[in-house]
Amino acid sequence: MNPSRYSRITGTGSALPADCVSNAELVRRLAARGIETSDEWIVERTGIRQRYLADAGTTSSQLAAQAAREALAAAGIDATDIDLIIVATSTPDFVFPSTACLVQKALGAPGGAAFDVQAVCSGFVYALATADAMIRTGMASKALVIGAEVFSRILDWNDRGTCVLFGDGAGAVVLEASTTPGVLASRLHADGRHEEILRTPGNVCGGAVIGSPLLTMDGQAVFKLAVTVLDAVGREVVEAAGLQMHEVDWLIPHQANVRILQATGRRMGIDPSRVVVTVDRHANTSAASVPLALDCAVRDGRVRGGQHVLLEGVGGGFAWGAVLVKMSGDA
Ligand code: ACO
Repeated sequence: MNPSRYSRITGTGSALPADCVSNAELVRRLAARGIETSDEWIVERTGIRQRYLADAGTTSSQLAAQAAREALAAAGIDATDIDLIIVATSTPDFVFPSTACLVQKALGAPGGAAFDVQAVCSGFVYALATADAMIRTGMASKALVIGAEVFSRILDWNDRGTCVLFGDGAGAVVLEASTTPGVLASRLHADGRHEEILRTPGNVCGGAVIGSPLLTMDGQAVFKLAVTVLDAVGREVVEAAGLQMHEVDWLIPHQANVRILQATGRRMGIDPSRVVVTVDRHANTSAASVPLALDCAVRDGRVRGGQHVLLEGVGGGFAWGAVLVKMSGDA
């Protein structure tokens, strides 16, 4: 392995479906099904004020390709230069082919490697760490790393404890080989013993769905575990990069719930003003949440070249991870 070969983020992009559903509108839609909730409950427990929901014709690959085109434009490169596409998703278009292959086709960029990563809400961080490793070992030079979801498809709209929490969308980054370090360190973990606290326990067998194709969650167990592991993996990756926590300019954790974001920042000693929060606008978009939040913070000028950004994912599996990035000047 070439010790001076690194990867760095050179462009970001995102995509959201057209239907922006406020809490008030969601309350109306759920009331029509006989499900009672309120804006007050949702805001107080989660910080969510609205979410974007895909219509029946919109797929993860379409949102992913739209986000990818934005990221390519920001990086100033053509889709044909891309030799690796990784899509993190739990709501793929098909059982197979992979959503990444569909994105590759949509972008007109055949020939490179393309595959999906299934690590639920930590999927983007898993995908980014994988792409970084592939670039550093010389297996790829220019990668698209995408988180894309139509999570609304796997929600039980009769379960008010979960259906108010999620939204749809996609976020993407272009990751390019460089002699200057961009991705400084990555750490990934999982503990399958907790697989039951957050799951969609169905599969397709003989043309029928076996089990349930809808999400179930033990919210309080997820909350406690998420806060603990996000703190631990954040510290681990900052130490691995040889930095101190006060040198982290921005913390971008998985956008599950504003109380998890606040508790994570507090435990790590990161001021709330340095925690990027988009869960109020997007709700929880699972694998898309971290790249969506990163793209928002890049485009609104908060995240700038030269800054250290700590990206963290956590979710079903139970799986979690973190990537510490030094943003390049032109990202
Ligand atoms: N509207 C109104 N009332 C509701 C709603 C709703 N949408 N959902 C639940 N309630 C009620 C319950 O029925 C219950 O009523 P009861 O006391 O009369 O029985 C009451 O609110 C409390 O329910 P809990 O489930 O105990 O609520 P809790 O305070 O734990 O909040 C929440 C639920 C927000 C999910 C919380 O557990 C949490 O933040 N968990 C973290 C998990 C998370 O964010 N998951 C996202 C996906 S996982 C991930 O991305 C990592």
